[in-house]
Amino acid sequence: MISKKILITGESGFIGSHLINLFTNKYPNYEIHGLDKLTYAANKNYTKHLENKTNYKFHKVDIFNREDVFKLFHEYQFTDVIHLAAESHVDNSIANPLLFVETNIVGTLNLLDAFRSVSSGRFHHVSTDEVYGDLNEFDSAFTEKNPYNPSSPYSASKASSDLIVRAYHRTYNLNIVITNCSNNYGPHQHHEKFIPTIISSILHNKQIPIYGSGKNIRDWLHVEDHVEALDLIFHQGHSGETYNIGANNEVSNLELVYLISDICLEKKIHQDPRGLISFVKDRLGHDNRYAICSKKLYEQLKWQSSIDFKQGLSMTIDWYMK
Ligand SMILES: NC(=O)c1ccc[n+]([C@@H]2O[C@H](COP(=O)([O-])OP(=O)(O)OC[C@H]3O[C@@H](n4cnc5c(N)ncnc54)[C@H](O)[C@@H]3O)[C@@H](O)[C@H]2O)c1
Repeated sequence: MISKKILITGESGFIGSHLINLFTNKYPNYEIHGLDKLTYAANKNYTKHLENKTNYKFHKVDIFNREDVFKLFHEYQFTDVIHLAAESHVDNSIANPLLFVETNIVGTLNLLDAFRSVSSGRFHHVSTDEVYGDLNEFDSAFTEKNPYNPSSPYSASKASSDLIVRAYHRTYNLNIVITNCSNNYGPHQHHEKFIPTIISSILHNKQIPIYGSGKNIRDWLHVEDHVEALDLIFHQGHSGETYNIGANNEVSNLELVYLISDICLEKKIHQDPRGLISFVKDRLGHDNRYAICSKKLYEQLKWQSSIDFKQGLSMTIDWYMK
């Protein structure tokens, strides 16, 4: 018997494709609906095989189109939503902020209003630690209590959408959870992002571009660890709460390139990957350091990441080689 009708938005993107694969396999008694506009960032090949499954259905919808979103909710009467659809690339948000406002802010509002009109379950909003702004070298890692201080149009649009979701909980008593996670890596990530760029540069013997001095620090989370945490929080998180998700893998961009280069050297993919490093003009408003504390998630729901960083990078390199 079907116990939930879940809509997963952004299902053909990097993280959404992993989540929908997990849910369609693990929960045969859920009817899982995937929604995606199929922008340049989507890749339907990662979810196409699901079309043979009886508990899966795909909808090509733009969440900025309010009428289409309402029509879909009224037709299928979803019980729950896990919302990942977004414009996600910081550089694109600097070039075209309006699209980020339309998709990330207005799109989220459209989903919330449609959800409010038909759904009785949970709205899980997937967000980023970039809403907290950035840290200096000696600051403590972001906790859920850090004030929002976004730097880029991307992070500002995600911060706005988080606040709207919170307001809908307070105002309309919607059952919501928000998750803010650190930078993801792993299979299916679009080549515009940093780790795929490093790997593909080495594979194709091209220069590895590093913004500025390479000293900016990021905190990395394997996508499979992330979707395990989303599964747990969707089912067991407390309504109205925010949970940070991270794996304590803080490295500077330059250290990350060294790490990947050394793995590629061990795998005999390239003879001198470090020799490909090329420093390029820094990104406008480039955040200095991100570090995320997921102690609350451990204390409340006993979640911890399980994929070792070096091992995760090695598996990711193998995937891109295939
Ligand atoms: N990748 C990360 O490191 C990371 C870290 C923290 C949070 N997040 C958040 O996780 C979510 C998923 O990120 P991702 O890395 O998988 O992004 P992605 O860019 O790989 O995928 C986003 C998906 O959303 C779809 N989409 C874009 N605009 C849409 C619209 N108007 N209507 C419907 N679908 C639309 C795209 O087609 C794409 O399939 C995003 O909300 C992002 O902010 C990502």
